[in-house]
Amino acid sequence: MGDGLPPMLVEMLGSGIEVLAWDDSPQSEALNRAVAFITYGHPRVDGPLMDRAPHLKIVSNHGVGVDHIDCDAARDRGIAVGNTPGCLDASTADMTLALMLAAARNVVIGDKFARSAQFTHYDPSTLIGFEVTGSTLGIVGLGRIGREVARRARAFDMRIVYHNRRRDEAAERELGVTYRSLPELLAESDFVTLNCPLTPETTNLIGAKEFALMKPTGILINVARGPVVNHDALLAALKSRRIAAAALDVTAPEPLPRDHPLLELDNLVITPHLGSASNRTRRRMMEMTVENLRAALNDAPLPWRVV
Ligand code: DGY
Repeated sequence: MGDGLPPMLVEMLGSGIEVLAWDDSPQSEALNRAVAFITYGHPRVDGPLMDRAPHLKIVSNHGVGVDHIDCDAARDRGIAVGNTPGCLDASTADMTLALMLAAARNVVIGDKFARSAQFTHYDPSTLIGFEVTGSTLGIVGLGRIGREVARRARAFDMRIVYHNRRRDEAAERELGVTYRSLPELLAESDFVTLNCPLTPETTNLIGAKEFALMKPTGILINVARGPVVNHDALLAALKSRRIAAAALDVTAPEPLPRDHPLLELDNLVITPHLGSASNRTRRRMMEMTVENLRAALNDAPLPWRVV
């Protein structure tokens, strides 16, 4: 059972697997029959939903983050959970850099201006942004994606500090990055990128107290998960120019209500959860989703198992 599965993924599943449309309504027949869920997008899968699917063997997640799946509930019920780690690190890091450059150099607002009647002549005083090259980057979450961000940032001659649950001395040697406490990182960085998973510890990690520590020229980039940032605090920080700008690929809720005040701000760049949305990465994510699913149906070990 899966929702909005693209033809390529359905083709990869092959003709031996019947694909049922996602249906978690009270009268769902699909839940009764499903042996596997593919979570394509982020439908919430919790214990009560699993209990309504008596034949369920696996929740195969198209993506690495599994915060929308109750993994403890799956473990308790002997249901496997698979994900797609690794294949999306490069594309998500690319997107982090894309958002950093876009926010720093007014790419989005510049695009709007260049299309408008107000653009009548080249004016060197227009839309002067912040230099990325040589600036200080703070990476919150130096996991697989965070490291790829660091590799790319080195090409911009950035000074790189990071914060993680644990200090990683091997990464420090390999990538030339320096460990900081979160308050130190926020105070020192020109750009702060969030590349951590969403966990109880990272929920609301960046709120009013943290914005108060950032430079007034600081720019926040979130390609992790929306709830890592307190959106009321972000709104206040952007409106008052406590920080210069932000770029969000993820929000809470997602999408934001169309009349959300954040959407009115010109110092916010926002994209619709495109972190891993590149052709090669999407293909590999689909392959891994299908490989996990097939393994579970064959009672074989999952190649990429969360639970
Ligand atoms: C991920 O892999 O976690 C992406 O956010 C897509 O779900």
